[in-house]
Amino acid sequence: MKSLELTLSSEYFVNNENLRPREHAKRLDRILGYKVSKTEEKLLQKYVAYNCSIDISNKKQHYEGTQAWVGLDPQVLQTPYCHIYEALAFLIGHKIEHVVDIGAGYGRVGIVLNTLFPQAMFTGYEVVKRRQFEGNKVLKKLNLTNAKIYRVNVLDIGFELPAADVYFLYDFSEQEDISFILNLISHCVKKRKIWLVVKGDRVTYLMRNCFRQYWHSEKKFKDSGIEILSFKKLTGGLNV
Ligand SMILES: C[S@@+](CC[C@H](N)C(=O)[O-])C[C@H]1O[C@@H](n2cnc3c(N)ncnc32)[C@H](O)[C@@H]1O
Repeated sequence: MKSLELTLSSEYFVNNENLRPREHAKRLDRILGYKVSKTEEKLLQKYVAYNCSIDISNKKQHYEGTQAWVGLDPQVLQTPYCHIYEALAFLIGHKIEHVVDIGAGYGRVGIVLNTLFPQAMFTGYEVVKRRQFEGNKVLKKLNLTNAKIYRVNVLDIGFELPAADVYFLYDFSEQEDISFILNLISHCVKKRKIWLVVKGDRVTYLMRNCFRQYWHSEKKFKDSGIEILSFKKLTGGLNV
């Protein structure tokens, strides 16, 4: 596959023209060569939309047991590039070697990461095969050899969450599913300092109400709704 003649730099991800973030992201998707709308349309032809409770069209559910968000506007499904950039830029100066995105969509986090932390590895987990395929296609075109999306259901028994410096989580499924993963992350903490970058009402609720004693809020970004947290030092055991 031909590599994209595009050198990624910060200027792509900073929204200098003050466009609406989703519009800015849509333009960048085009520049980067993502076929997001087409991919999402194909998914919707085959699977029931996330907001349809009764299937009147004989379509099947994408995945039993998790939320694949089929039918959601692709620009709502994903975090705008400029918001990802703003959040990751906050971590400049820290040792960031591995970033994991739980429910990676098309892998935008991996692309932005490369401009800020070019040596860092990106691992995305995505349950929808078409998104994973399209995401990896673009990562490959951009020659991002240290970035990869795996087709994995993170809720599967036996899923092993790797050690990382940053975990990115944008409401990938129902609250109990997110809670399950937050527990896994919290148990993953050993000696290294870890960061959690969260977005969405569900995860924000959980961080505020169920995980508050373990995570310290480092930064809240008003416009994007993203929050960055770091794990507090534990004195006793973890009891979530
Ligand atoms: C809200 S999107 C976020 C995409 C990306 N992280 C971003 O911020 O741009 C959540 C993604 O998680 C995926 N997902 C849902 N349940 C999952 C699961 N159990 N395992 C892996 N991915 C999952 C969905 O298919 C969707 O693409």
